[in-house]
Amino acid sequence: MPDYQYYQKALQGIPKPCAFLDVDILQQNIRDIAKKSNGKNIRIASKSIRSVSVLKYILDASPVFKGVMCFTADEAVYLNEKGFDDLLIAYPVWDAHYLKKIAELRKENRTITLMIDSVEHIDQLEKVAKGENCTFLICIDIDLSSYYPGLHFGVHRSPIKTPEHAMAIVQRVCHSKYLQIDGVMGYEAQIAGVTDNDPNQKVKSKLIKLLKKNSTKQLTQKRQNIVADIEAMGVKLRFVNGGGTGSLHQTSLEDDVTEVTVGSGFFNPGLFDYYQAFKFHPAVGFAIEITRIPAPNIYTCTGGGYIGSGATGDDKQPRVYLPEGAKLIANEGAGEVQTPIFYRGDTPLKHGDPIIMRHSKAGELCERFHQLYLIQEGKVVGTYSTYRGDHQCFL
Ligand SMILES: Cc1ncc(COP(=O)(O)O)c(C=O)c1O
Repeated sequence: MPDYQYYQKALQGIPKPCAFLDVDILQQNIRDIAKKSNGKNIRIASKSIRSVSVLKYILDASPVFKGVMCFTADEAVYLNEKGFDDLLIAYPVWDAHYLKKIAELRKENRTITLMIDSVEHIDQLEKVAKGENCTFLICIDIDLSSYYPGLHFGVHRSPIKTPEHAMAIVQRVCHSKYLQIDGVMGYEAQIAGVTDNDPNQKVKSKLIKLLKKNSTKQLTQKRQNIVADIEAMGVKLRFVNGGGTGSLHQTSLEDDVTEVTVGSGFFNPGLFDYYQAFKFHPAVGFAIEITRIPAPNIYTCTGGGYIGSGATGDDKQPRVYLPEGAKLIANEGAGEVQTPIFYRGDTPLKHGDPIIMRHSKAGELCERFHQLYLIQEGKVVGTYSTYRGDHQCFL
């Protein structure tokens, strides 16, 4: 892996803070992810990328990569304008204002699929589709959480928890003139999004591994039953979507799954370091500049406080990546305008030198920077605009 001097040299002369994409490492991650696809398609989770150019780069890299999993309707409209097709909006859209925009594109026969999980969603979508005289493509989100005494191992998203409930929803969609079933999605967040090999939390990691093993058995069976029941009704599913970066290795082995979603694995942010089943490499990072040295071994930099979303905790802070051994200071953390770094290693540091950081999550970093500097073979070879750089802000 590249060392401190590599990125220091490559980013010399680039105004800091700046975000970068190590293209050589991205290529390696792309190859490793494609290898783990086990013959299934991989749909790219755009929320974990947030750059049109990077999305195109990945889609062009291998025929394994097909379609995008979007996070809002407006984002899907934007990506459609940019030439992307097969856009699955992974989270329900309620607002008629946005649904009408999707209706316009459906009238042009664009493959944009809306997510539902309830009769309320069906009624709302039907109302808009009727008014706009179009048909919406529908994906049904099934809950794959596991329930143990006192523990909900999963996420709170879809109320569809049983095959019977799924059947009732599918039947209701099939009776609609304005809706057409396109696919089923079951996202096993408790497998894909929960780390299980954290060296700082050995006991917890052991327990999580056990829970994951048991939960995998349950959810595999449930997904299989639901897909079989739907198909037995004579419904043709264009896709059955499952998984995420953290479960690619196992979701891709399930016969009923036709595609696995992957986003974070391409950039491999801090939170993805601690999974037992795979290791991708850090392809995206950011550099902050030392502007003050308030005491020996303390280097205070401008910027840096880019905190990841989700349940708050230390793990959502950016990680100090290089030089190795450099750390955040517990009392201040990564700050709104300044970040002090503690470092007592061999690399001499002075004013103007960079500290190389990694975000805890993948795409969110792109909301803080207009562009990613592309580093290849030790040099900046260009830039890719982020959604923010395109003046887009979806969430
Ligand atoms: C519906 C859905 N599928 C897949 C993913 C996996 O994305 P990633 O590969 O970035 O972890 C997510 C992440 O939250 C998701 O919400």
